[in-house]
Order: sequence, then structure tokens, then C-alpha cells
Amino acid sequence: MSPTPRPPVTRFAVMDILAEANERRAAGSDVLSLCVGEPMGGAPEPVLAAAAQALEHSPLGYTEALGLPELRAAVAGHYRRWYDVDVDPGRIVITTGSSGAFLFAFLAAFALGDRVALARPGYPAYANILAALGCEVVDLPCGPDTRYQPTPAMLEALDEPVAGLVVASPANPTGTMIAPEELTALATWCAAHRVRLVSDEIYHGITYPGATPVSTAARFPDAVVVSSWSKFWAMTGWRLGWLVLPDELVDPVGALAGNLALCPPALSQYAALASFTPAAYAESEARVEQYAASRQVLLDAAPALGWDRVAPADGAFYFYADVSGSGLDSVTWCRRLLAEADVAVTPGTDFDPADGERWVRVSFCVPPQVARQAVERIGTWQRAAFARR
Ligand SMILES: Cc1ncc(COP(=O)(O)O)c(C=O)c1O
Repeated sequence: MSPTPRPPVTRFAVMDILAEANERRAAGSDVLSLCVGEPMGGAPEPVLAAAAQALEHSPLGYTEALGLPELRAAVAGHYRRWYDVDVDPGRIVITTGSSGAFLFAFLAAFALGDRVALARPGYPAYANILAALGCEVVDLPCGPDTRYQPTPAMLEALDEPVAGLVVASPANPTGTMIAPEELTALATWCAAHRVRLVSDEIYHGITYPGATPVSTAARFPDAVVVSSWSKFWAMTGWRLGWLVLPDELVDPVGALAGNLALCPPALSQYAALASFTPAAYAESEARVEQYAASRQVLLDAAPALGWDRVAPADGAFYFYADVSGSGLDSVTWCRRLLAEADVAVTPGTDFDPADGERWVRVSFCVPPQVARQAVERIGTWQRAAFARR
């Protein structure tokens, strides 16, 4: 049977890099992997202990479709702790990762054929999920002048109106953040033009000195906020995230959640209750200090590597660098780096189909000694590979 006539979901170039890295590792090579956005170490100790307790004492049946009421209340407490804002737990919905959150939010907020604007470069799943749901993706090409983030002026300049705008701060692949006053300008513009703002805040908690993270939650009641336990708490495989929804989207998302997922993973929910404890915050914050040290290694090495166009990594754990001076496109650059120096990084084409062939993304969620080894290998490889340029 032939597939349904939906737009094909793009295969990422990093999949080939990962497969190649795994093959090389299996053959005995000492590959340094800086290509995936997977935090190191796994869930904090209190979360593991709570999971063990839940395994022993809970039947782990279905929970409420919107998530355990006590976990929704605990997420509200997290907003109070981090941002000093009151968010009604009734607006918080627990989901299967932020990926599941996007599916519910886009389905509830947008209709078939709606135009939704996204920054390019950006996290590719936004465009792929929207396209699979029958929305039209509107690219906003973003560069260093706006820290690779969208602005009201870009929206104003569009030929046709949009129904939505998805932003991420800190962003993947650039790590850049939207300054508080710019976020206010974007949210105000969206509210005035009846454009639904979706704010991906999954990298909150992973920011570096000078950055001011502010949440869209509570400040802009029409916006949809998406977040997750995957990054700050390093709980990628637990598949747990959350939404903070405008009041009018809570019931539609509840109906979708009951039908599409029944409930988010029960074990993960019981375990996540312990993620809001002082010990779990402290463990995760210590990990962020490691990322900060690895980021500094890359920042210090960039001039010697000849990477003079890099996005300012305000947060997350990504370093987006222009390698076009090599004369190679980024896919070839990454393939050769892996084959000749055993370092795996991601070609920018996965995040930016138009200009990504100039860029690579280096994930620095690795211990600083690994970052150091990686930049040494990259430097040695570049000097040998491009000696005659
Ligand atoms: C910007 C961004 N949003 C969302 C996700 C999805 O995360 P998860 O579904 O694990 O919560 C990722 C994963 O890398 C990401 O980089």
C-alpha cells in the first residue's frame, strides 16, 4: 500500500552521523560524541528514589489524563520558586515529554491550513509536527542582528497573516535567548494581532552568566508555554513534560490527551514529584556548572579554530558555528571530522534547510575534559585538512 499523501517527515543528517559514530565505536575507535542534545548523568538521585518507591507501593495504573493533580500543583510551585509568579495549577497539563506537549498544543491551537511562523534556524520538530498536522510553516530567517530570534518587525513584514508563532529561548541549535523586553514586545504584538504565541522553555535552568530567563507563563495569559523534565533534570527517557495553557485551551487539550495518550507515564510522574526538592535542584544545578565549564572551553578555543561567526550561547548546551571558511558544506565537514578525527557533531542542515550548509552544532553537554579533547582534535584535523587553503 502506498503511504498517505501527507508531507514527508524529514530524515535528519545527524542520524547518519550517529550511525557512523556507533559503527566506529563498535570497531574500537574512541569517538567523542558532541552531536546529541542529551544531558549527561541521568535523573537526580531523589527522582530515582521516588521511582523505586512508586514501583514498590503504587499499582501504576492510569492517572488523570491531565496528569497527577499533586504534580500539576508541584509545577506551579516550581514557577513560584524560579520566577516568583503564581500560575494556576488548573492551567498546567502534564504530557509525554515536550514532544507530546507540542502535539496537543498545536492540535488545540491551530486549524488545518493555519500559517505558523518559526525562526530559522530552529528545532526541526516544530516544522515537522506542524506540517504533519496540515499547518503551513512560515520561515522567519534569523541572523546575528537579532540573536537568531524572531522580532515583531519580521512578523509585521509578512505578506499574509499568521495564526501562530513558535519561539524557543534558550533556542536549539543556537543557544540564544530572547531578552525580557523583546519577549514582552513579541507577546504584546501577538496578543494585538490575535496570533497564538507558543513559547518553548525546555532549556530554562540551563543558562549562563549575563542571561536573564523570564517565563512567558503568568505574564501573558494567551500564550502557550511548553517545558519538560528532559534537559535541566536530565530525564530524557522518562518522557515527561508540561504545558501551561490559556484557560480556553485546557478542556480541548484534556479531550485530546484522554484520546491520544490516556495519560502521561505514571511511573515518571510519581518520580518527578521529587524533582522539585532542594536536593534534586542542587544536583541539576551542579550539572549546569559542568556545562558552563565546557562552554568556556569552546568559547576560548573558537578564535584559534577560526570560528569567528558563532551564535552567542546564552543558554542550553549548543555552540552553533559557521564553518563555511573551510570550503566544505557542513554535512561533508561533519562526515570528514568523524572519519578523520573521531569527533561527532551535527550539520546545520538539520536546523536550517536553506543556510545550514554553512553551520555546525556542537553539543557541549559533556564533561569539560571531553570538550577539551574534542577541540584539540578538531584543531589538529582542521590544520591538516585545510593546510593549503
Ligand atoms: C528546543 C527543543 N524543544 C523540545 C525538545 C523535545 O524534548 P522532549 O520531548 O524530550 O521534552 C527538544 C529536544 O532536544 C528541543 O531541543
